[in-house]
Amino acid sequence: MTIQPIRIFGDPVLRLTAQPVTVFDKELRTLVKDLTETMKDAPGAGLAAPQIGVSLRVFTYHVEGVIGHLINPVLDLTEEEQDGPEGCLSLPGLTFDCVRAHGVVAKGFNEYGDPIQVEGTQKLARCIQHETDHLDGVIFIDRLDREQRKAALRAIRESEWSGETAPQVKVSPHSTFGGAR
Ligand code: NI
Repeated sequence: MTIQPIRIFGDPVLRLTAQPVTVFDKELRTLVKDLTETMKDAPGAGLAAPQIGVSLRVFTYHVEGVIGHLINPVLDLTEEEQDGPEGCLSLPGLTFDCVRAHGVVAKGFNEYGDPIQVEGTQKLARCIQHETDHLDGVIFIDRLDREQRKAALRAIRESEWSGETAPQVKVSPHSTFGGAR
């Protein structure tokens, strides 16, 4: 397993719709390990595969001591909402309040292809929504209201890391996905 460089806002891989995982092989499990290690090293509450340059529907989370992962997630959200601070490892140092569903039931698969369900409220629900957004090319500042988004874009322009992008996009670590390029 390897700690991978985290892609920064402005990198095109963060704006792609990630591909569903169809092959649950050793390479996928290496991806899950890399995501987990990179997330723990950062440290962060969650990390999605596109954030390490792999456009596949996989993310890991580390919330309140629980580490997990979810592949090909499908979310069921509560109508009740929460508002609170949110950040992203791809936007280092920036935090903005973001409205999210209070609770989520997430269905998907583990690294062996077994169906799993992750249920959470508050922080875990926020994390699952944030990471699933990454798989659809959505970054949390997209969900802010107009004023907050303007403030976020200004903060990004003023950040030290703004403009430092690595444009290489790996569609998948799977050889079977080579044709999808
Ligand atoms: Ni993020």
